[in-house]
Amino acid sequence: MTRKNQTLGEFIIENQASFKYSSGELSRLINSIRLAAKVVNHEVNKAGLVDIIGAVGETNIQGENQQKLDVYANEKFIQTLTKRNIVCGIASEEEDDFIAINSQDENHQNKYVVLIDPLDGSSNIDVNVSVGTIFSVYRRVTPVGTPVQLKDFLQKGSEQVAAGYVVYGTSTMLVYTTGAGVNGFTLNPAIGSFYLSHPNMSFSEEGSIYSVNEGNYQDFPLGIKKYIKYCQEEEGDRPYTSRYIGSLVSDFHRNMIKGGIYMYPKGSRNPNGKLRLLYECNPMAFLAEQANGKASDGYTRTLDVIPTALHQRVPFICGSKKMVEKVEEFMQEFGE
Ligand code: AHG
Ligand code: MN
Ligand code: MN
Repeated sequence: MTRKNQTLGEFIIENQASFKYSSGELSRLINSIRLAAKVVNHEVNKAGLVDIIGAVGETNIQGENQQKLDVYANEKFIQTLTKRNIVCGIASEEEDDFIAINSQDENHQNKYVVLIDPLDGSSNIDVNVSVGTIFSVYRRVTPVGTPVQLKDFLQKGSEQVAAGYVVYGTSTMLVYTTGAGVNGFTLNPAIGSFYLSHPNMSFSEEGSIYSVNEGNYQDFPLGIKKYIKYCQEEEGDRPYTSRYIGSLVSDFHRNMIKGGIYMYPKGSRNPNGKLRLLYECNPMAFLAEQANGKASDGYTRTLDVIPTALHQRVPFICGSKKMVEKVEEFMQEFGE
């Protein structure tokens, strides 16, 4: 059940029963992410003040403020999930290896692992442009009470039980799915609560926005070049316009609301694409499918790719269904 203006806390409780594994554990996990998101949001909003605070010599907090925000966000999400004893393992863009939690404790019954991109679009921080956090949740495949293993993280995207993102934009939103549609919650900073503002989010079948770093055009596979030209041609009455923020979360969020496609294809500099399968592409692909959109590497459904490494990269094409299908047609016809 969704009611506009419900708080996220109320929504989690009221919808817990509809989740197929409902035991309260996933609800506690989403609650922890909600908490960490608020803490990181507070820090992201202060990013422009770092020099000012430094200049007046408030050394007590200066050190923390000067810490890179992606490191700060990483610590906050890991701390929140670890201290509250919510998950059995975490993998992050900022950590070479996965982190096993309480693996020595035989009574440790937590079933879930989380993968995160703590700060997505970090090149946009210094210029006051939206950034985000992405998360992906799986049930472990190894038995509870034993140390978590790499194979608990290397699951196909189709096995995800929840995924979402936080966008720290003109307002801060938390958008997530547990496999029953996608809902978006906006933070009221005065009160510190997220409210359901965007129930049942959905991509339109067709869209008009294409988002790609065209600076890499020369490097793109021929199929992608042809698709971009198709969007640019004046023949007929094509509605396309280009928008590229350079943070996946923000580009995806806009495209889901307005209708569009995001592309990060392979190129000579990024022979497998740039984006990471496990904590960037898969969570976005799960959200896209739950919102009537589509995600692929140009040939294969993203959620069907079998992962082989924690930080694996894949080409990523995601958004309105008909637009993604069009790219796949061009890839079939013109290929690399
Ligand atoms: P991150 O900041 O987590 O490393 O991710 C950046 C990613 C993604 O968010 C964005 O869409 C893409 O990199 C932008 O890459 P280009 O600057 O190469 O276009
Ligand atoms: Mn990222
Ligand atoms: Mn990142």
